[in-house]
Amino acid sequence: MTGTLVADPSSTLAGRRVHVKVPATSANLGPGFDTLGLALAQYDELDVAVADTPGVHVEVHGVGAGEVPLDESHLVVRSIAHAFARAGVPLPGLSLVAHNTIPHGRGLGSSGAAIVAGVVAAKGLLDGVVEFTSDELLELATELEGHPDNVAPALFGGLTIAWVTPDGPRHKKLIVHRGVSPLVLVPEHEMSTALARSLQPESVPHEDAVFNVSRSALLIAALIQSPELLFQATEDKLHQHYRAGAMPETDRLIRELRSAGHPAVVSGAGPSILVLASDPSERADAIARAEAVADTAWQALPLAVDFLGATVQPA
Ligand code: HSE
Repeated sequence: MTGTLVADPSSTLAGRRVHVKVPATSANLGPGFDTLGLALAQYDELDVAVADTPGVHVEVHGVGAGEVPLDESHLVVRSIAHAFARAGVPLPGLSLVAHNTIPHGRGLGSSGAAIVAGVVAAKGLLDGVVEFTSDELLELATELEGHPDNVAPALFGGLTIAWVTPDGPRHKKLIVHRGVSPLVLVPEHEMSTALARSLQPESVPHEDAVFNVSRSALLIAALIQSPELLFQATEDKLHQHYRAGAMPETDRLIRELRSAGHPAVVSGAGPSILVLASDPSERADAIARAEAVADTAWQALPLAVDFLGATVQPA
């Protein structure tokens, strides 16, 4: 990151206020474990202001209200603090008001969205004082999230391929074919990403690795050019079956949807399901099928792909 010499950053930042908007995301997309992610048009929005007094004031409306902490341990505040620390600027007092719609604990990138909101808010508040490159924003967010597959699409929008290098995480953004019509099915219960990750084996058979390499490569072609290949391209042997016992309802409904020809996968670490339908009519068929066979309540969210990623504007 590059800084501009400012005699007293705290007086420069006084009164600054930004509005941040961050999309939900679905990671893995079947075979692309810890690598592929898609930004979806459902958003958390926040107003963040530099306060006159030290400390933080946090208000949360919508999803998470009454559940998430309202002090320095709030994930957005921790993320802002992380970016300020890296920039070498003392953290000012902050007032933060969040309006959240991304469900928590359902595999739709809510923690990644909170982290990205913080990093992007810091970028906005430090405008003209410290400049962050795209790689630096991704690095800051990945440091807090642990893996880049949700934070990359939350930051940049569209379909993202994210990978880790000795110099930090990197990403490539791709524009999804306009036929692709994502459907998210959200159950009432939550799933812990930490638990899901603990179910992954240390090593996998070579043939399973080859299987996923082929499907991940095919998935990129299917998503940007050939949606008719989405069913085969969403096959996976690296993570979903290891985790299936921890989310039996998800596993059952995915089997039902796939047996009817729908490209259904676990969204992120679950328990939501992502169906990558090739057109809106297939999406409607998948909703009808899910309603007919599901044994528990699922909320159907037909969501567009978000092509913009996180935005920050002076407010
Ligand atoms: N790739 C991650 C996982 C996404 O499946 O564990 C959830 O954070």
